[in-house]
Amino acid sequence: MIPTFEWTPAGINFLDQTKLPLEESYVLATDYRQVATVIRDMIVRGAPAIGVSAAMGVAIGIERSTAGDLPTLSAEVEIICRTLAETRPTAVNLFWGIAQVRDLYTRLASSGAPIPRIKQEVVALANRLYDEDIAQCKALGAHGASLLPQQGTVLTHCNAGALATCGYGTALGVIRAAVERGHRLDVLADETRPYLQGARLTAWELMKDSIPTTVLCDNMAGHLMSKGRIQAVIVGADRIAANGDTANKIGTYSVAILAKEHGIPFYVAAPFNTIDLETASGEGIPIEQRNPREVTHSNGKQMTPDGVGIENPAFDVTPARYITAIITEHGVLRPPYANAIRSMAAVSAGAMTAVSSVR
Ligand code: MRU
Repeated sequence: MIPTFEWTPAGINFLDQTKLPLEESYVLATDYRQVATVIRDMIVRGAPAIGVSAAMGVAIGIERSTAGDLPTLSAEVEIICRTLAETRPTAVNLFWGIAQVRDLYTRLASSGAPIPRIKQEVVALANRLYDEDIAQCKALGAHGASLLPQQGTVLTHCNAGALATCGYGTALGVIRAAVERGHRLDVLADETRPYLQGARLTAWELMKDSIPTTVLCDNMAGHLMSKGRIQAVIVGADRIAANGDTANKIGTYSVAILAKEHGIPFYVAAPFNTIDLETASGEGIPIEQRNPREVTHSNGKQMTPDGVGIENPAFDVTPARYITAIITEHGVLRPPYANAIRSMAAVSAGAMTAVSSVR
């Protein structure tokens, strides 16, 4: 297990993903504002990790509050939740994580629970969500493993691994589970411009697990597919709309179209809390625009002429028609996704905390 972040008595300790793979160092967040900065600056990133970090952020905000009465604390909780909700717009897990802790707070406060007990319970919940994320990733890994070839090469885009979760991974969790079951897999990791999550993070964590990994530039996948070198594609998700349209790291959409053209299965692996029943289709998913400097500069060095126009959308939406299956901890969803998602939601109602109240 790779300790992406953890709750400690001193604060929340985050492995600094901006420094990987060259340096393994940690950033300690001792208040909710620091947690917001850690999420915004991508010291922690990846939808499930962002969700649980945000839950811990609300919990640490409540735990460290000096409010002496519930009305004062409730006003602070609103500010804490708003601050965390404003960090990154696309991954629905952020809003889910905030809503989980805020809902518990509201229940306890409205029943007049004493502040010390509220503090204890919100911290316990945030830590439970952490453990549940690991269990969910292992469960979805078990459901997805048999979809991957017994022997072959699997392409992934961005990092949907231990680093993007609480320690096992979604897309890489499925790969890990398949390898644990004896599949002989080689992984191709798209470098994932401009932030290089594939080259820096996926390669780093798979090499730590001794899973054979090769990095390729984002524009090479089509060529390798045309040569029969890729047997499956598996990616994570930042938000899945109610009809199965899936937002994931920029470049995922192009890979999905290439996979369809070459008859290669394209899988999405995500915990069920990444499905946003309140968003009907991909058109309603907000796409984060990041700093142009991520495109203009590489390793601190300017790569583009002064003044040139720059685009930097951090995510794109893959229409559901390109997705062979969506792998969740409750099982594998197949098209038509609107029906399959509705049925799964009905049997896992607890997972579907309303998130509209915090965005
Ligand atoms: O901008 P990032 O690095 O947070 O984007 C991460 C991704 O797009 C992942 O593929 C997604 O969050 C799934 S992580 C299990």
